[in-house]
Amino acid sequence: MHAVSSLLLLGACAFQAVLGGRPDLAARREAEIVKRDVDSFIATEKPYALTRLLCNIGPNGCAAAGAAPGVVVASPSKSNPDYWYTWTRDASLVFKLVVDTFANSYDSNLQTNIQNFIISQAKLQGVSNPSGSFSNGAGLGEPKFYVDLTQYTGAWGRPQRDGPPLRAIALVNYAKWLVNNGYSSTARDVVWPVIKNDLAYTAQYWNQTGFDLWEEVNGSSFFTIASSHRALVEGAALASSLGTSCSACTAVAPQVLCFLQRFWQPNGNYIIANLFINGRNGRDANTLLASIHTFDPTVGCDANTFQPCSDKALANHKAVTDSFRSIYGINNGKAQGTAVAVGRYSEDVYYNGNPWYLCTLAAAEQLYDALYVWKQQGSITVTSTSLAFFKDLVPSITAGTYDSGSATYTSIISAVSTYADGYVNIVAQYAQSEGGMPEQFDRNSGTPIGATHLTWSYAAFRSAADRRAGIVPSSWNAGSGNTVPGTCVGSSVAGSYTSATVTTFPASQTPIPGTPTTTTAPNTEPTGCVTPQEVLVIFNELATTSWGQTIKIVGNVPALGSWNPSNAVTLSANQYTSSNPLWSATIALPAGQSITYKYIRVNSDGSVAWEADPNRSYTVPATCGTTTATRSDSWR
Ligand SMILES: *[C@@H]1O[C@H](CO)[C@@H](O)[C@H](O)[C@H]1NC(C)=O
Ligand SMILES: *[C@@H]1O[C@H](CO)[C@@H](O)[C@H](O)[C@H]1NC(C)=O
Ligand SMILES: *[C@@H]1O[C@H](CO)[C@@H](O)[C@H](O)[C@H]1NC(C)=O
Repeated sequence: MHAVSSLLLLGACAFQAVLGGRPDLAARREAEIVKRDVDSFIATEKPYALTRLLCNIGPNGCAAAGAAPGVVVASPSKSNPDYWYTWTRDASLVFKLVVDTFANSYDSNLQTNIQNFIISQAKLQGVSNPSGSFSNGAGLGEPKFYVDLTQYTGAWGRPQRDGPPLRAIALVNYAKWLVNNGYSSTARDVVWPVIKNDLAYTAQYWNQTGFDLWEEVNGSSFFTIASSHRALVEGAALASSLGTSCSACTAVAPQVLCFLQRFWQPNGNYIIANLFINGRNGRDANTLLASIHTFDPTVGCDANTFQPCSDKALANHKAVTDSFRSIYGINNGKAQGTAVAVGRYSEDVYYNGNPWYLCTLAAAEQLYDALYVWKQQGSITVTSTSLAFFKDLVPSITAGTYDSGSATYTSIISAVSTYADGYVNIVAQYAQSEGGMPEQFDRNSGTPIGATHLTWSYAAFRSAADRRAGIVPSSWNAGSGNTVPGTCVGSSVAGSYTSATVTTFPASQTPIPGTPTTTTAPNTEPTGCVTPQEVLVIFNELATTSWGQTIKIVGNVPALGSWNPSNAVTLSANQYTSSNPLWSATIALPAGQSITYKYIRVNSDGSVAWEADPNRSYTVPATCGTTTATRSDSWR
């Protein structure tokens, strides 16, 4: 706290020097008061938030009686609104925070909760539900379940494709802790089988539309795609540290990153939250949340991954926060560059459309992330893209790079710190008096409203407070996955899904004394030639079709639909020409697996024509170094 405080004072002096005018004593005093208020709010709210967060986790949480072990209840509120469910997204974001907290400082109670969560999710993956079954992965896209882990069959915005990648991210974090502390076999045998299914889902379904994190629009969401990219990159790195591989992750991740670039809107300088939907201006806290949840402190201000301090993410921060200035009464008169209450998106009508605690905290957290990186690298670069963001804070600024010795650098650090604290201060002002945070606060009066004790609100508070204190998460290997391919293609890999049978964790997995608490990605890639668990098999079938017909593959294993044509895998006609009528699909199959299969031709009315007998048969190779194989067939 002391270091931050003296920096702030230094910054205020330097600011004065830059402007060459009288010190703005009133502004400086105001900044000091905000900082003191935020310091004291955080001091009491941090323990309170963790206590309330744990209250919402079964089976023993103080507000979670009846929830299964490891289940995160979204809120204890059972009516108006009824949030007495577990959402995979919310739960995974909560456990992402819990694992970060645990990795930073060992705590056996948190570890028990993490283990319970992993066991609960292994079970949940297999619960069939309205989004589909487990055998082809579709059921993993189901957004919410009852707190006893049974399916919810009511109408809902489904599927939601952010759940599996977010769950993978949370679990990879714990697996990395296990590896770093000498428990690789637990990571490989107990945690990886759960992660593997979520990665398979992500590699298979990322290029299909689904509902956004607010469960309202069916399209492609920036938050979902950014989370998917991170999960695939991080999952592949974990796999190799465990002596296995995720070939589908490696094959697909660059294409997910390629698609992610499409969300950037150079006209307007913002990230559009959802593609393929109508009726919104596109500025949405979705994009702030995506940036903070894909923060990697080792890649600087990389714009390809929209890092919090990248010029694009900062320009977007301005666009999103400005979109709430004029619409909420409690933001009245607050000029650009001054913190405001932040909601989901300006057209929101849920509960009349209000600011949310977790959105306002995300606006703060992005800035704390940026401050961390700028201080680490000792410089700040202002580009034409981010210039308007910086001008709100330091009006005289021009594009350029400012090193830590410069007055401008110091002014920016000071102004951004004050700006970030302003967002936390708004949360402090409108939280319940004992520190409670429901979902929203009223747009005109600031009164806390909506689902009480929202678990996600507390996780959001804790991570923002950690970033402010310079506590950052470990790298997700973004640096190995931030090259954008020259051409984007919507490639996907049909996965194989296997139930994870985890029911217990070995006892006494305590940290190795002396292990650094700020973990980096494990870098224990085995040397020599490794036989993969899975091989990407490319099925190429030459079949002349007419408009409206589709070629699919069906066979004797779940990944091939278990001979059920309605679960067959659709081949793509991307490369089809009249002289080379090629249909193709990439399917991840277990190395060494023997399969029988056939192709089918499906007409637009759903009727099916089968290839002639006999069934085709094939054994997937299981040799070291072989991660892909190709079958070349022709319709018969
Ligand atoms: C979502 O949109 C896709 C096409 O973009 C459509 O095929 C699908 O049926 C839609 N889902 C729902 C539930 O509306
Ligand atoms: C799939 O990816 C391609 C290539 O990036 C893109 O053009 C297409 O819009 C994507 N579709 C969806 C639904 O993600
Ligand atoms: C192909 O496999 C299916 C499913 O096992 C079986 O019912 C069918 O008899 C097989 N066809 C031939 C020609 O062996």
